[in-house]
Parts: sequence; structure tokens; C-alpha cells
Amino acid sequence: MVKKIDPCTLVLFGASGNLSRVKLMPGLFRLDAAGRLPEHMAILSVGRGEVTREAWQADIKKMLDTKFKDGYDKAVFDRFIARNYYHANPPSDADAFRKMKATLSNEQVFPQNLAYFLSVRPTDFAPIVEQLSGAGLLDESQYWRRVLIEKPFGTNLPSAQALQASITKHLKESQIYRIDHYLGKSALQNIMLTRFANTMFEPLWNNQYIDHVQITNNEILGVGDRTEFYNNTGALRDMVQSHLLQTLALVAMEKPQDLSPESIRAEKIKLLQAIRPLPIKDLAKHAFRAQYSAGRVCVGDGHGENVAGYLDELAKEGVSASVTETYAALKLFIDNPRWQGVPFYVRTAKRMHEGNTAISIRFKKAPMQLVEGQHQNWLTLNIQPRECIKMEIESKIPGLDIATRTLSIDAPQRQTGDESIDSYESLLLNLMEGDPSLYLHISEVEAQWRLIDPIVKAWAEDQSAVHQYPAGSRDPEQSGIIFESTDQFWRYSIELGGDKH
Ligand SMILES: NC(=O)c1ccc[n+]([C@@H]2O[C@H](COP(=O)([O-])OP(=O)(O)OC[C@H]3O[C@@H](n4cnc5c(N)ncnc54)[C@H](OP(=O)(O)O)[C@@H]3O)[C@@H](O)[C@H]2O)c1
Repeated sequence: MVKKIDPCTLVLFGASGNLSRVKLMPGLFRLDAAGRLPEHMAILSVGRGEVTREAWQADIKKMLDTKFKDGYDKAVFDRFIARNYYHANPPSDADAFRKMKATLSNEQVFPQNLAYFLSVRPTDFAPIVEQLSGAGLLDESQYWRRVLIEKPFGTNLPSAQALQASITKHLKESQIYRIDHYLGKSALQNIMLTRFANTMFEPLWNNQYIDHVQITNNEILGVGDRTEFYNNTGALRDMVQSHLLQTLALVAMEKPQDLSPESIRAEKIKLLQAIRPLPIKDLAKHAFRAQYSAGRVCVGDGHGENVAGYLDELAKEGVSASVTETYAALKLFIDNPRWQGVPFYVRTAKRMHEGNTAISIRFKKAPMQLVEGQHQNWLTLNIQPRECIKMEIESKIPGLDIATRTLSIDAPQRQTGDESIDSYESLLLNLMEGDPSLYLHISEVEAQWRLIDPIVKAWAEDQSAVHQYPAGSRDPEQSGIIFESTDQFWRYSIELGGDKH
């Protein structure tokens, strides 16, 4: 259903940055091409440097040329480029936000409903909100005013709460859009639809039938040129605190009353708050960390490439030691009647043998073991690189004897002709529509930090050498220590068909 969008202005802070060049500008262009932007809609890019409108428009053309190598529609380009303006906001100018208000007051050019996208350093979120408020640019008495805050929202619970306290001096919760771009992925949204739009899954979706769940995000890439950022962050904070816990919430939450943002968020909050804190004294059996060492990874065309280890990469930057994890695996339990006793294994790693994001669910043993070697059923919801649903069931091998083998029912979710939407496109659209269902409520952010903070702290305090795994390998064998039973093992890509070890 296409929702109506009010005439509005998108004010983009950090428009010259990497995120804007690669995702936001191309995403807005594609929304325009799809006819999803309102006719009266302007984009005001705000940056520190003095740039003319013409130079800025030429820069946007460069961004689009880089992104859309096969070209794009000239008429759409003309319409899009005409929406774009630039405003210089030098930090040295105490009057900068008042001048921005004066620019925005031209109602013929800038519709007065204002959506601010803060694609800037996290330390700039609170000061920008404060200055927008000081200039009267958050006042909703006549028009709506929304602020999108990029990830991360804090680096732990106290800093998230401090940021919240600071911005809520000027904003109501309904004006705040905290992003987790994973939620913009259509495959992630499909988790909820798969669960609740089909009769066959929900009755089995509980501790009576499910043995355990694995939520995985593995990458072939290493930390690249982000060594400093990564070494201060680590896999737990970068991936688990946000994307993977949100995925878990969608997999495990109770059915929302309806699809309204309030109902969906209420169920996600309840679920996140029901995750049992990890026992820090017994952490080794619940959480495993490691770092990649030098090794050989698979590159795009199937060839191998020798790559350096994480500590070697840090050494090149002058960092002599680090216990920051590039591999993190947790065992989580959810204290509610549906999930009591079911382990949820959440893992993420860099420099693995394959890149894959998936939810794999193993069902309990069938009530009757009819034959030797009968496997348990698996259901996999694959998010990337291929969006698909795969079910593994046992079936008789044709012939005189009674023996079973595993059949794989594999359905691509994406079909020829389906739209390919980047997660930022749907999130930008939702921001303008005023639909926060794919954005995080502060209670979700808090519950996520509350769970992760004690593990981050315990790992930082333990300065003993971190386990090493060769780049390009699979999960370190030692990570199996967190499994609840000896017959559990890490599942890998569905592309490997039946490969279980
Ligand atoms: N890149 C991604 O894929 C990605 C993914 C997830 C989250 N994020 C988040 O999105 C935000 C933007 O990311 P990004 O990669 O686009 O960042 P970026 O390229 O480092 O910078 C964004 C903008 O911030 C301004 N800026 C940079 N350094 C500054 C400084 N020292 N003082 C004041 N302003 C400065 C620049 O704008 P002007 O010079 O024009 O003022 C720049 O265009 C961050 O909060 C990041 O955590 C990014």
C-alpha cells in the first residue's frame, strides 16, 4: 500500500560523507525514479564547507554516476537535481543555525515539514539537536519535525542514556527515529510475515518443538581501513548489540496485536527485556571470542588471497596489543513460557570462509526414531547473500529397505522482476511517511546495551591472549564450548547444501 507523504524538506547533515555518497543520495534518487517522493519535496544538504549549489549538484551527479554505472533516466535526473540545495554550516559560525533557519524559511522552495538526517559523527548528534532546537527548528506547532539518528546510539548503556537525556530536552519520542539499517532489509521484514502469515510455522515456534536457533552474520572481509574504529568497538558492539539482537527479537517475539509501529515495538521490547543476562562468573560457557590471524580468504572470482591477521594490521597502525574480538558467539536464553530452555546462539565474525547472514532453526528429534541416523529438521531463513527459505525434511530412500535421507526444500524469496530495494530506501521513505516501525524505540536500545555491556566489560578486563583463527577458516573448534549439548554444531551457508560441519 502506497502511503501519502506530506510535502517536506529532508535536511541532510553529513551529505558529503561516505554513507550519503554510497547509500543516501542514490537511495533518494531511486525513490524519486519510482515516483515515491512527493512532488513538493526538497533536499537541503548541510556541511561545514562553503560549496555553491552548482558545485554540489555536480558532486551529486558524480555520486549517481558512480552508483548507477549503466546510466539513469535523464528526466528523473533533472527532477531530482532540481530538488537539491546546499547550505554551509561552518562550526566556527555561532550564527550558522539561525542562518539555516533563514534559508529554510523560503516556503516556496522548502516545504516546512522537516526531516533531519544526522549522518555525522555520533559525538555531533546531541549538539546538532540542541542547536536546531535553539533556532526553533524542532517546533511542531504547525508542521512536523523529525530527527533521524544514525547508528550507534551510544557506546554503552550510560552513554545511550546520556544521549537520550540530552535530545529529549528538545524532542518528543515520536520525533526521534533511531536507525538500525538491518531493519530496512526486506528479508528481515519477511521473518515476521513468514511466522505470522503462515499457519504451518507458528504452532511449532516454541520450546516444545525447537531444539535451538542460530543467528549468524559472517563476513569474508576484515576490518579494512577502519582499524581504529573497530579496535575501539569490536564485534559485540558493532554487530551483536544492534543488528543481531534485533534479528533475534523478530524471530522470537510474540505475535503483535496488529502491524502498527506501536504493537510491533511493544512485542520487540518485551522480548529483548526477557533475555536472561549472561552469568559473568561462568561466561566462558556462554560467550566465546577470537581474532583472525593471517590466512587465505576467498575473493569474488573464487580465487584465494593471502591476508594479514588482525593483530598484524593493528601493529602497522602502531597498536601493539589488543583483546578486541573479531569473532563473537553468545548463547542466550529467553525467560518466557514460549522459549524457556531453548538456546539462541548468536554469532558474528570477520574473515570467515564465507559471507552469510542467516537464521537457522533446528527442530527437536521426531517422537519416533524409525531408522538409524535419522536427522532432525532444519528451517533456514537466509538473509544474504541469497534471500531464501530452506526446509530440510527426512524422506524415505526409494528401494527395498527402510532408510531415510534429508530432502531440502529451497525457495528463493526473490523472483525475477522483483524490486531490489536497499534498506536505506525503505527507511528514508518511512521517515518521510512518519512510520517508525522499522526504527528503534529507546527501550530497545537500552535493553540491548544492558545485555551486552557486562560482556564487553568482562572481555576488556581479561587481557589474556585471545584465541586466534586463521583468516578464511570456519568457526574455531573451541567456540563449541558454548553449545548446550554435544550434538549441536554450527550451521553454514545454505549454498553448501547439506554441509553441516
Ligand atoms: N558509512 C556507513 O556505511 C555507515 C554505516 C552505519 C552507520 N553509519 C553512521 O553514519 C554516520 C555517517 O557515516 P559516514 O561513514 O558517512 O561518515 P563520514 O564519511 O566520516 O562523515 C560524515 C560527515 O561528517 C562530517 N565530518 C567528518 N569529519 C568531521 C569532523 N572532524 N568534524 C565535523 N564534521 C565532520 C563531514 O561533513 P562536512 O565536512 O560536509 O561537514 C562528513 O561528510 C556515522 O554516525 C556512522 O557511524 C555509517
